[in-house]
Amino acid sequence: MTWNSRLLAAAAAGALGLAGAAVAQSAVDAAVKARKAHMQLYAFNLGVLGGMAKGEIAYDAGRAAEAAGNIAALASLSQAGYWPEGSAQGQVEGSRALPALWTNGDDVMAKAKAFQEAVTALAAAAGTDLAALQGAIGPVGQACGACHESYRAPE
Ligand code: HEC
Repeated sequence: MTWNSRLLAAAAAGALGLAGAAVAQSAVDAAVKARKAHMQLYAFNLGVLGGMAKGEIAYDAGRAAEAAGNIAALASLSQAGYWPEGSAQGQVEGSRALPALWTNGDDVMAKAKAFQEAVTALAAAAGTDLAALQGAIGPVGQACGACHESYRAPE
């Protein structure tokens, strides 16, 4: 290898290294966007149900069942790809996920399980009548909030 070709090889490796890092970074950014979109879909559907529960929107059994069904469907999706290492707050722009999310596995799973159970109960109740919706929505809101309190940084 001549001096020149060594230099070229090093430059090429450097360029590849940079490109590799750029791809990885954009994958992390995409994951943050995806999980936020997932959360926004929760919030939209829960907002419809909350409006009905508070009497701000007329109770509609079909619409309530649909919104609660959407939350249950969302909750059943695998989120494994949404939370890559290196996507905590401070590691990537726009993330409010606290680093503890990656180290408190057992507690995160317990909170996710409690959330899942509350969502299943809401999906069963929401389309029955207003009282059933009102009884089942609180635990879901609390389960969202419990996870945010521990694992989402304030705005
Ligand atoms: C197991 C934990 C967990 C549960 C359960 C959970 N969230 Fe989140 N949520 C998070 C984390 C962590 C973030 C911060 C994500 C980030 O900034 O990258 C977040 C972010 C959000 C955001 C802000 C999204 C954005 O665009 O910045 C909204 C809205 C939200 N959650 C709504 C909800 C609602 C509504 C529920 C319940 C139906 C819920 N979440 C359940 C952990 C959770």
